[in-house]
Amino acid sequence: MIHSSPPTDSFAAIRDVDELIRAIDDRNCTPGWVPRAKPLMWASPRSAFVPVHWRYAEIRPALVAAGRVIGTDLAERRNFVLRNPVPGNDFATTNTLVGAYQSILPGERARSHRHSSHAMRIIIESRGSYSVVNGKRHPMETGDIVLTPGGSWHGHGHDGAEQAFWFDCLDLPLVHLLEPMNTEEHPAGWEADAQEDPDSSMRISHESVLQQLARADDTDRLFGRTIDVSSETMRTITIKAHQWKAGWSNQPYRQYANQIYVVLGGSGVSEVGDQRFEWALGDVFVAPLATRVAHTAREDALLVALSDERLMKFCGFHRLEVA
Ligand SMILES: [Fe+2]
Repeated sequence: MIHSSPPTDSFAAIRDVDELIRAIDDRNCTPGWVPRAKPLMWASPRSAFVPVHWRYAEIRPALVAAGRVIGTDLAERRNFVLRNPVPGNDFATTNTLVGAYQSILPGERARSHRHSSHAMRIIIESRGSYSVVNGKRHPMETGDIVLTPGGSWHGHGHDGAEQAFWFDCLDLPLVHLLEPMNTEEHPAGWEADAQEDPDSSMRISHESVLQQLARADDTDRLFGRTIDVSSETMRTITIKAHQWKAGWSNQPYRQYANQIYVVLGGSGVSEVGDQRFEWALGDVFVAPLATRVAHTAREDALLVALSDERLMKFCGFHRLEVA
């Protein structure tokens, strides 16, 4: 029979709490009762992120300038990342998602790559641009939504005559938190001879969004006429489209989900927390978790809302309440 000697009790001689704290710290343990600069729990949500609004009319000229001053040799994806302006953050738009305005010039190609992060595009202005996703060509026409679930090869091209503009969204902040990062360049550089697949689930055409909205219920006082076009292939990004008539106002709400609104048509005003955003085509604004959100459409409006709602529901954290 083998007898192992018990570990030496180095705490036996400790006589006061300060001595105990110093001793246990050496074992990478922290007493839970010690006050911290940032407590471990608090009474109600305090998002580290703030409500913020980007005006497409201001940023579009910068994308045009980028098309002039930087080529695809140096910036294959010519984009501006929408950074939530809070200390210590250099890219995230919300706690879990990052958005960016991206642009491509006629004749350009952005070579194929893939990454663990789920990604999608909402097309703001385009005639003739396209994404090749897993070898299939997907038109990117104004109002379309194109998906590239994590691990999908994707590259972009443009056969049209005018510069094209879209909004990208990825769950990259979440990937940074959970750390399953992978990226890979396509061995061929570009997926050649891609053919269109009209039945592809990777493209939600503008026409399809409008047709689904026309059949949707419009009695929801908080969100108005809404469809959920989220994909099972990318569960971290909830994708909803809202269609509001001119003059419609919502019952203000608070939701435990981080939202990015992208305006695809019309204009209006939204109060998010203590901010007031007057939005128009192509604008993007953020409603961080638990902020009060009140919308009024000035013109007939179409918005796409991207959020971590489904993730919050999976975790059992989601709440929605009238505010
Ligand atoms: Fe990508």
